[in-house]
Amino acid sequence: MAITNTVYQKSMRKFSQFVDMFAYPLRLSHYLELINPLWTKHSLQAKVVKVWDETKDSRTITLRPGKGWRDHRAGQYIRVGVPIGGMRHTRTYSISSAPSNRDGCISITVKAIKGGRVSHHLVRDLKVGCYLPIGDPQGEFVLPDAMPVHPLFITAGSGITPVMSMLRNYMREYRGLPDLTHIHYAPHAYDVIFGKELEHLSKSQKHYKLHRIFTRELGDSVSAKLHFNADQLDKLAPDWREREVWACGPASLLDSLEEHWKKEGLSRNLHLERFRAKFAEVPTEITSGKIKFTKSELEYDTDGVTNLLRVAEDAGLNPAHGCRMGICHGCDCTLVSGSVRDLRTGAVTSESGEKIQICVSASVGDIEVEL
Ligand code: FES
Repeated sequence: MAITNTVYQKSMRKFSQFVDMFAYPLRLSHYLELINPLWTKHSLQAKVVKVWDETKDSRTITLRPGKGWRDHRAGQYIRVGVPIGGMRHTRTYSISSAPSNRDGCISITVKAIKGGRVSHHLVRDLKVGCYLPIGDPQGEFVLPDAMPVHPLFITAGSGITPVMSMLRNYMREYRGLPDLTHIHYAPHAYDVIFGKELEHLSKSQKHYKLHRIFTRELGDSVSAKLHFNADQLDKLAPDWREREVWACGPASLLDSLEEHWKKEGLSRNLHLERFRAKFAEVPTEITSGKIKFTKSELEYDTDGVTNLLRVAEDAGLNPAHGCRMGICHGCDCTLVSGSVRDLRTGAVTSESGEKIQICVSASVGDIEVEL
């Protein structure tokens, strides 16, 4: 059987090479894309097979990836291309399903963020049957291969998504949860994404201690005393020093955790997944100016604070990008002249010809960028 398969694959490869000669400059894969985008090999596509509203502003989208998809590890994310109004936007989303689903599908769970064009489109307007380009699974926010004995999960809002994949993976692989403490923050009970599933796990899994903290009273006043603090941690997870921690949520929460674990000399126990890059303080003196996109021959005003990817998009360009947080280098462009400031470190570069990550760079005065 294995020999028959190998012979079949070899013949198909030869057939495809033969057809490619006639299809030049396109390839067979481009024509197959017209019949079914999931058959294409030159880019990875996924079909939207289900959408499910989790809360009033978050939605789980089930995707069937096409040829070339390799399975993810629980906790990883993917890049998703989202066409809106003739422009393709790319965002990264954590996968919320466990790996190796029998039906071959994966899911992402998206929260509509204030002013977020793409997240609003995904949560409100995306239709079943659409095809979206996706990237390979990426990210180091994963559990070790051997089961950690005492994990502590700390999540807030949509930061639950990679951790949900981990919880589901535990249930699938080990048929139960280990000694696990989970602290989850949400504004109100009705805002908890996967609320019912978490509750079910906390009732059915005797080693799973779930603490939900609702940070707002009804009436919407934000209560700072309910946010993360050392006393609260001591009370909810008294053995936190012995636990390895996976945390995902807004920057303010992750910064507090980082500081707390550092103070205790336990930073090595802490694994963080950030939605946005951590930025350095904005300098007191900011120089605004003009940016010239040399390939597009376009000029636009910059305020010296906004990242250049956003400036280019506001100017009507559609630059290639991926994570939007300085990890993937998908947005690299050449600096032609002028100076840019790295928003993460505050370091200023004036080296013409240097590659810059425009998603985490702001201009310092007038600049030219090859775009
Ligand atoms: S988009 Fe990933 S580094 Fe800029």
